[in-house]
Amino acid sequence: MWSIKAALRAVATAALLTSGLASPSALGDSITVRQANGGKMVFCHYMIGIFYVRTSSADYDDDMKRAKAIGIDALAFNIGVDPYTDQQLGYAYESANRNGMKAFISFDFNWYHTNQAVQVGQMIARYASQPAQLKFGDRVVASSFAGDGLDVAAMRTAAGNNVWFAPNFHPEQGTDFSVIDGALNWLAWPNDGNNKAPKPGKNVTVQQGDQAYITALKGKPYIAPVSPWFFTHFGPEVPYSKNWVFPSDTLWFDRWQQILKLQPKYLEIVTWNDYGESHYIGRLDSPHGDDGSSKWVYGFPHDAFLDMAVPFISAFKAGASDPAPYITSDKIVYWFRPTLKGLNCDATDTTLVDADNSTGNYFKGRPNGWETMRDEVFVVTLLTKAASLTMTVAGKSVTVNVPAGAAINSIAMAPGAVSFSLSRSGATVLQGTSPMKILDHCPCGIYNFNPYSGTIPAGQADQLLPAGYSSILNGLHVSTCGPSGFKTTPAAVARADKVVYAEAVPTA
Ligand SMILES: *[C@@H]1O[C@H](CO)[C@@H](O)[C@H](O)[C@H]1NC(C)=O
Ligand SMILES: *[C@@H]1O[C@H](CO)[C@@H](O)[C@H](O)[C@H]1NC(C)=O
Repeated sequence: MWSIKAALRAVATAALLTSGLASPSALGDSITVRQANGGKMVFCHYMIGIFYVRTSSADYDDDMKRAKAIGIDALAFNIGVDPYTDQQLGYAYESANRNGMKAFISFDFNWYHTNQAVQVGQMIARYASQPAQLKFGDRVVASSFAGDGLDVAAMRTAAGNNVWFAPNFHPEQGTDFSVIDGALNWLAWPNDGNNKAPKPGKNVTVQQGDQAYITALKGKPYIAPVSPWFFTHFGPEVPYSKNWVFPSDTLWFDRWQQILKLQPKYLEIVTWNDYGESHYIGRLDSPHGDDGSSKWVYGFPHDAFLDMAVPFISAFKAGASDPAPYITSDKIVYWFRPTLKGLNCDATDTTLVDADNSTGNYFKGRPNGWETMRDEVFVVTLLTKAASLTMTVAGKSVTVNVPAGAAINSIAMAPGAVSFSLSRSGATVLQGTSPMKILDHCPCGIYNFNPYSGTIPAGQADQLLPAGYSSILNGLHVSTCGPSGFKTTPAAVARADKVVYAEAVPTA
């Protein structure tokens, strides 16, 4: 099962880098950005392993265009050791070049071993002359997820001594940072210092992680992580069972505000497409295989997160602390989990039985850390002028005044419909209802802590393609889920609401 490899990551992965002196010739498009803004760049972690269904470089074009359009400068191509890795990497680099995107390899040390320094170096060398390869001067950028203990000198020799290496090494492990050029911090979520949600007395903020890296790097470039969410819920139906959340409610909004204050040289969005850990900002219909996560991903588009990031990315690149000047039209961005955290799904959930726990990442029932989530619908307004926002859940409304620029509000979750309206001087400016409701039952029978996200005005409808939900029924204790419960007619909607997975009804 190749898809297994695509999926197995204890915490997904990471990537990359950069530095001081770039020579214009090697940087291509990026040089313009670097000269204009002091070299700030936005990277996005991009999992290659999930793409075994792609058959040509054209299959990558839509991702590249979208990433480029929102201001991402380079993709960190996360790779493991799948037999299809070289073929897919070739397609990805080719498409990146065609679409004006830069890229670099991020070695995933869930798959690579730290004694493979020579193989890592050789792999960097193999792709170094790809036109889309990100370089600083003539130095080839490369990164990693984990990998502390790698013989960096041996890697450099094998690569041809021209690597700009910014791995996801860990200061707290005492790793020697003097041999690297920069570093990526993967931990974009508040945590307990042990890869799980904070607990009383064990509470590490993302900003504490920033400081630990900045201290260890002694002035070398820091790649700061930014992520919208973390939820994973694999049971014994796959060999990489794991089940936890990191507190994520307002993280996407809060973290962007922190980034605009911190102004690191580089940031990395985690991720474009790691559906298994629910931190994707790319589309569901981006062609990919199913690592078993479709049971919590089907019907849960995240492209509203991507929309929210746009003015923040512009502000970051301009060195600005406020996204307001970069908001050109009014938009409401919202997200919420499908059920209240107290809803009991024990009778039908997929994780109530034993599974391999050699990683320490498997928990039964509600995802470990579930208590840290708040039962609220989160609403970000991106406005050109101040307005009045009304949020309605299950017939109950709350109205608040919202300023020009970016602001966040919330309203308590309750089973039922979710809608919003925005008005100025008594006239309605924006109005809409979420295609997804808050449910009073367990979708697909499981504890699903993945958020539904949407915008008003609504974006283009987004659903998984068949390969993306090919294993949706594996391990389920209910007979209907996802496409089989797809609501296409009013009668089906009524039925599906009672019995089935209540995914979003496409709006277009
Ligand atoms: C961790 O710290 C944050 C920020 O100070 C706080 O909001 C949160 O409640 C704390 N979590 C726990 C479990 O103590
Ligand atoms: C899995 O291991 C972790 C770490 O030792 C432990 O906290 C957790 O309870 C274990 N899960 C199960 C289902 O026993």
